[in-house]
Amino acid sequence: MPESITDLQEIFQKEMAKAGNLEGLEKLRVQYLGKKGRITTLMRSINRLPVEQRPVFGKELNKLKKYVETALEQKKKKYKQQLTATRWEKERLDLTLPGKPFHLGRKHPLNVIMEEIEEIFTSMGFIIAEGPDVELDYYNFEALNMPKDHPARDMQDSFYINPEVLLRTHTSPVQIRIMENQAPQLPVRIIAPGKVYRRDDDLTHSPMFHQVEGLVVDKGISMADLKGTLLLFLREIFGQEREIRLRPSFFPFTEPSAEVDISCIACEGQGCRICGGTGWLEILGSGMVHPRVLEIAGYDPEEVTGYAFGMGVERIAMLKYGIEDIRLFFANDLRMLSQLLAY
Ligand code: PHE
Repeated sequence: MPESITDLQEIFQKEMAKAGNLEGLEKLRVQYLGKKGRITTLMRSINRLPVEQRPVFGKELNKLKKYVETALEQKKKKYKQQLTATRWEKERLDLTLPGKPFHLGRKHPLNVIMEEIEEIFTSMGFIIAEGPDVELDYYNFEALNMPKDHPARDMQDSFYINPEVLLRTHTSPVQIRIMENQAPQLPVRIIAPGKVYRRDDDLTHSPMFHQVEGLVVDKGISMADLKGTLLLFLREIFGQEREIRLRPSFFPFTEPSAEVDISCIACEGQGCRICGGTGWLEILGSGMVHPRVLEIAGYDPEEVTGYAFGMGVERIAMLKYGIEDIRLFFANDLRMLSQLLAY
């Protein structure tokens, strides 16, 4: 016996109220409208009814089918809308929130100073030159007039890779490489900034540090040219009120040689803790290029003369910024790096 159509509609309505979600609805649809669904089954049973009942029953059943279809469809739409709404709520963006700050990289203080040094010398007509960090013993020592038994060649001071190859201990080998390439053309007027390596490690010495080398070779170059150029340079770096003095010194590759001091930047020459009471600060090594070095590199020492100097970049930065521990440059502590860049 077919169920009463009104009963079936009531049952459907109750089940529909409990459906809860899209899956529930789909189950209901199969249950009523699927191949073996309740309505489908009733449809098939119509021909078992007495002929006179068929039209009315069929009509009612069709109405119920339409009703179920529409009801399911509407509920489905509603559930879908609810789903999108909760998704929107979850993924909502507040476009008025401030952005996340991000930090741009900056130049290391040592590079800033090196560029400052380069700028001063290139404005005077110097050209920037470079040489390898891994250097031949010949360029690092031999061609610079450093005899085999010179203390600077000691294994204790240098990082040797093999008996002929080492990490350069200074930027002076670039002098030789440049002259060798350029001879006999004049003038030579270069600076050579770069890294150098020594077996040293304390408050003021690091196994790797930076130097800037200078070299001028031409006819009639004198020590007055050296002094005038360095005075101009050192005043640019440390202030126009600085005085300089040249003290006799020794380097195997210069003759005569001079250590260059500036009047103390802390006490203006009065004598203080920074300058050890002398009023002077030692800044760089220099001298007139040794005739033997000129000759080895391809120039005629009877025809030309030259001067050379070499300075430690860390030392200049430490004096300028009042830093007492060289290792701070290489510790990469952003607090220290950004503080220095504020200068
Ligand atoms: N090369 C020397 C050093 O490292 C410095 C220097 C360079 C001295 C050029 C004189 C001339 O100590």
